[in-house]
Amino acid sequence: MLNNIHETIDFISANTRIRPTTGIILGTGLGGLIDEIEISKKIPYKDIPHFPTSTVEGHSGNLILGKLNNHRVVVMQGRFHYYEGYSMQEVTFPVRILKGLGIQQLFLSNAAGGINPDFSIGDLMTITDHINLFPDNPLRGPNDDNLGPRFPDMSEPYSQKLIDQAHEIAGSLGFKLHKGVYVGNQGPSFETPAEYTFYRLIGGSAVGMSTVPEVIVARHMGLPVFAVSVITNIAVPGNFQKNNHLDVQEAAEQAGKNLAQLCKEMLT
Ligand code: HPA
Repeated sequence: MLNNIHETIDFISANTRIRPTTGIILGTGLGGLIDEIEISKKIPYKDIPHFPTSTVEGHSGNLILGKLNNHRVVVMQGRFHYYEGYSMQEVTFPVRILKGLGIQQLFLSNAAGGINPDFSIGDLMTITDHINLFPDNPLRGPNDDNLGPRFPDMSEPYSQKLIDQAHEIAGSLGFKLHKGVYVGNQGPSFETPAEYTFYRLIGGSAVGMSTVPEVIVARHMGLPVFAVSVITNIAVPGNFQKNNHLDVQEAAEQAGKNLAQLCKEMLT
């Protein structure tokens, strides 16, 4: 894997002069942030050696390098999900690449189902912790000590400093920002009512099908992480509604505007 990582980093570095300090992985419908970026290079995933290509509706596949609020960023427009059939190593390969490009912090967004009864559709939640219910771990297998330790610490999976900063900014911008625990599940089927109830019982606030693998790999390499869920549907015991992917995308689109503003302010 180390050889592939080096080849991919060399390819990207040869294609842009931007040396990013923040990496951003955009989830479902949250592409709005792209409009705020002064783009210097856009590379389709299909042109990047060793990169998987995105298959899911609503996820374009481009790596974007540029500036956001005068801050050098590399943005993944579209991510890879385990449910698409990729291995955990493939899902998280881009995180290794972003780190290799020099980023010092990783921002992620995702769409998630709200299981905390205080949540409404379109709310935003900073992820303070997660519960990994994926059937695999991206670090399973031989460990390369050049990348990170065999048994990485997960006592602060999401940077408290960045969470505090986000809540301060949301307060001054005047929008609601929840905190909560993200339950990561493989999908692609949404949860049954009994499963949503179970995830609430074990301490979850929201549930989704991404993020956890990328965060594990980021923490393996010591990268500080900041992640936000957009609550695209409500699945609170006693209030279950039918889910569909289009509703999820629509709800994400609206909340995405606040989220874009938040990310921008965090990068000044
Ligand atoms: N479950 C899992 N993933 C999701 C959901 C959900 O309810 N909503 C958006 N992504």
